[in-house]
Amino acid sequence: SPFLLKLINTFYKVSFTSCSVFCRPVAVTFLPPAREVQRFYSDPTEAVKDIPNGATILVGGFGLCGIPENLINSLLKTGVKGLTAVSNNAGVDNFGLGLLLQTKQIKRMISSYVGENAEFERQYLAGELEVELTPQGTLAERIRAGGAGIPAFFTATGHGTLIQEGGSPIKYNKDGSIAIASEKREVREFNGRHYIMEKAITGDFALVKAWKADKAGNIVFRKTARNFNQPMCKAAKTTIVEVEEVVDVGTFAEEDIHIPSIYVHRVVQGASYEKRIEKRTVRKSQEQKPKPKKDSDIVRERIIRRAALEFEDGMYANLGIGIPMLASNFIKPDITVHLQSENGILGLGPYPTEDAVDADLINAGKETVTVLPGAAYFSSDESFAMIRGGHINLTMLGAMQVSKHGDLANWMIPGKMVKGMGGAMDLVASAGTKVVVTMEHSAKGGKHKILDKCSLPLTGKQCVDRIITEKAVFDVDKTKGLTLIEIWEGLTPEDIKACTGTDFEVSPNLKAMQQI
Ligand SMILES: *[C@@H]1O[C@H](CO)[C@@H](O)[C@H](O)[C@H]1NC(C)=O
Repeated sequence: SPFLLKLINTFYKVSFTSCSVFCRPVAVTFLPPAREVQRFYSDPTEAVKDIPNGATILVGGFGLCGIPENLINSLLKTGVKGLTAVSNNAGVDNFGLGLLLQTKQIKRMISSYVGENAEFERQYLAGELEVELTPQGTLAERIRAGGAGIPAFFTATGHGTLIQEGGSPIKYNKDGSIAIASEKREVREFNGRHYIMEKAITGDFALVKAWKADKAGNIVFRKTARNFNQPMCKAAKTTIVEVEEVVDVGTFAEEDIHIPSIYVHRVVQGASYEKRIEKRTVRKSQEQKPKPKKDSDIVRERIIRRAALEFEDGMYANLGIGIPMLASNFIKPDITVHLQSENGILGLGPYPTEDAVDADLINAGKETVTVLPGAAYFSSDESFAMIRGGHINLTMLGAMQVSKHGDLANWMIPGKMVKGMGGAMDLVASAGTKVVVTMEHSAKGGKHKILDKCSLPLTGKQCVDRIITEKAVFDVDKTKGLTLIEIWEGLTPEDIKACTGTDFEVSPNLKAMQQI
């Protein structure tokens, strides 16, 4: 009891202050540590009913993986309005945060990628919703910093892009003009590189989904459902955690606790979990016949088979959705490549068989996946520390445009929908990570994609190291420009000039384009 503890404390104080240095404290049988009473709720609506209009809420999850579904549903019941919701994504039209968008309870979203939600797009373009798009790693770190008492920090992510320059639309007017524009960021140089200042994010409330809580309020997460939930626990005045199970103290070992109880103010055991899957992908069975190949498939396969030659034994690599990810199917069997997925996996495996599909285990493309032996799961802030810190050797991703000095544009077409940059700006801003772009040489209709200067908003400035297309491979020198190093059999450098929007050097060791 607290009274007894107080007595013991008093005894210690008295004995220490009145004893000489030779006096040792006597052995005392300690009571369990005194903790504040944890607030366990059985009704999720009770746990969120004091969230007031206009509150800032941090909502965990990546896509639909690890979202606090019961707490979100409860906000529909309380009818709270004017919310600022900080969440990597915005759910889908009829699940997750998408539900609160439909009821117009959200005033502003702070997110990195919102591409899965059509109602979101409509509200944003119609000037009904404010949207602050933030690079995924910057978002995770802003939340981490908020929880750790750091008001701002410098990151290379977004330097030389709209994020730094400001002026991108947060809110539109009804006539399509910009009502609220994003702020410009302060730039500082450290050791010859440019960084921009990003401010911490804190919330009034965090709505978190965890796997289990023990009765002391310690929390563990499951697989990739950890994501933004972990840093968000620490960054709000009141953290409300919904769990699948409440277990006795000691059920998980102290060293396995992901979030100590100090960050957990309320715990609710969710009555049921739908755990909807956004992209259910399974491994094809051996019997399925391969589909006949279209011309576009042949072009893609050529790029994929060249891209796979970029892998080296022992490498850590992050692969974008599409061609880069498909290249991993061609990794030579005698080398080991560790695949990182920015939602919190190192050691990504193939798609699951039908019976191994797990809603808590997805990749950054929201597809169901598996992991290989030796894999590890971690939170989003940890994942981007790994990326920003230059620990990933290779990142491969698609592009809409690349300039001769390695500027990359792949996240936004002004006037059309802006889906968000996700983690791309963070991945290409990391010093020490080789950036390889895989893409078709020209856009539909023959428009050039390799240019003197990108016309679309940039993902990163002077960041691309190599470009692989179905026709050619270029090395990029960030000051001198492009060098053609490989060319598809039967094509000449003149042919490549004709379909490229900028000049390039031809390597004296020009080779035929290699294929795995
Ligand atoms: C990967 O990067 C690390 C540095 O972070 C380096 O020590 C290692 O040699 C690199 N491995 C490969 C295969 O490039």
